[in-house]
Amino acid sequence: MEERLQKILARAGIASRRAAEQLILAGRVQVDGRTITQLGYKADPDQVSIRVDGKKISAEQKVYLLLNKPAGYVTTLSDPQGRKTVAELVRNIPARLFPVGRLDLDTEGALIMTNDGAFAHTILHPSHEIKRTYEALVNGLPSRNTLRQLSTGIELDDFVTAPAKLRLLRREAKSSLVEIIIHEGKKRQVRRMFQAVGHRVLHLRRIAYGNLRLNNLPLGHYKMLSPADREQIFS
Ligand code: URA
Repeated sequence: MEERLQKILARAGIASRRAAEQLILAGRVQVDGRTITQLGYKADPDQVSIRVDGKKISAEQKVYLLLNKPAGYVTTLSDPQGRKTVAELVRNIPARLFPVGRLDLDTEGALIMTNDGAFAHTILHPSHEIKRTYEALVNGLPSRNTLRQLSTGIELDDFVTAPAKLRLLRREAKSSLVEIIIHEGKKRQVRRMFQAVGHRVLHLRRIAYGNLRLNNLPLGHYKMLSPADREQIFS
């Protein structure tokens, strides 16, 4: 992914962004052997060789992890309202990770975090139709017909949902646990889908992203993803 040169230098720990600008203006930075003195210059650190005073800088190593997000954390890196953020749960990792997509404040479960923008973009791109599996505890007992309606697609305020898979997992006195698999990521989609058919979501947990499952990863913990784990997302 292309980024401004001063940002790349700052990210690589060469200097603060302000000091990196001074390095660029002073003609001390080369990209693929060419001295760059414009501050607006953008490059993809994975595609080019960047040198400062002739010394090659190494691009930040890519990190991929799966976090089991607890409720009560926002999926942003900082929050103007001072709420807890998922960044706090991965603080000990020396890379600037960002969440891939979002989960509501009250939603728990599988959240991928990475510093690889291209990877995040691929996962989120609708053309890949990556499935997201949720367990939703809803009030009442959705009828077979209701589940069928949700799986065919229903009209929400601004769009019609794509086909989904639904399965009743458990029936309790006043609520039901339903597995729902969707491959879209519209805001509050699962909650809105159930709301539209008269069932409030009482608790929501994403248990898998593609075929990458949380399994027994404890709440608030993360695991690093191997290349094989990452493959699971697309399979
Ligand atoms: N659907 C929702 O309603 N909320 C989430 O956090 C994720 C999917």
